[in-house]
Amino acid sequence: MRIAIGADHAGFQLKEALIKGVLAPYEVLDLGTHSPHEPVDYPEYAFAVAEAVAGERAEYGILVCGTGIGMAMAAARIPGIRAATCTNVFMARMARAHNNANVLCLGGRVLGIGLAEEIVRVFLTTPFEGGRHARRLALIFGGPQRRG
Ligand code: RB5
Repeated sequence: MRIAIGADHAGFQLKEALIKGVLAPYEVLDLGTHSPHEPVDYPEYAFAVAEAVAGERAEYGILVCGTGIGMAMAAARIPGIRAATCTNVFMARMARAHNNANVLCLGGRVLGIGLAEEIVRVFLTTPFEGGRHARRLALIFGGPQRRG
């Protein structure tokens, strides 16, 4: 399974730790940034990762900025992306089981490495439950039950 990952300067350190740690068993497409020293604009990295997932060059995306909020806002602009900011393991499990999220957004200034690793582990291994949750997603993103 291939994972696309991206971060801004505020997320760089956590991105590197995830790549060396919890993501070691996976094929990782690292789309930058590659330094914590130069401030960069997080939407560029969000779009790069979201486009990799939407274009099926990766199964899931992981984005890290200071809070995980801006990355989720930007990634969600790309059609086919369901981005979720998660700050705990329960949110990570529900983001997959109920929301079928395909991009996980994390806050490098919010989470410690241990918790972030557990969030990633749960996100990558929890299946979507489908059923009523698929109907609800269709109300958001389109499909047979789309409103209007
Ligand atoms: C950068 O300072 C910060 O605004 C960014 O990493 C992120 O938290 C935005 O949502």
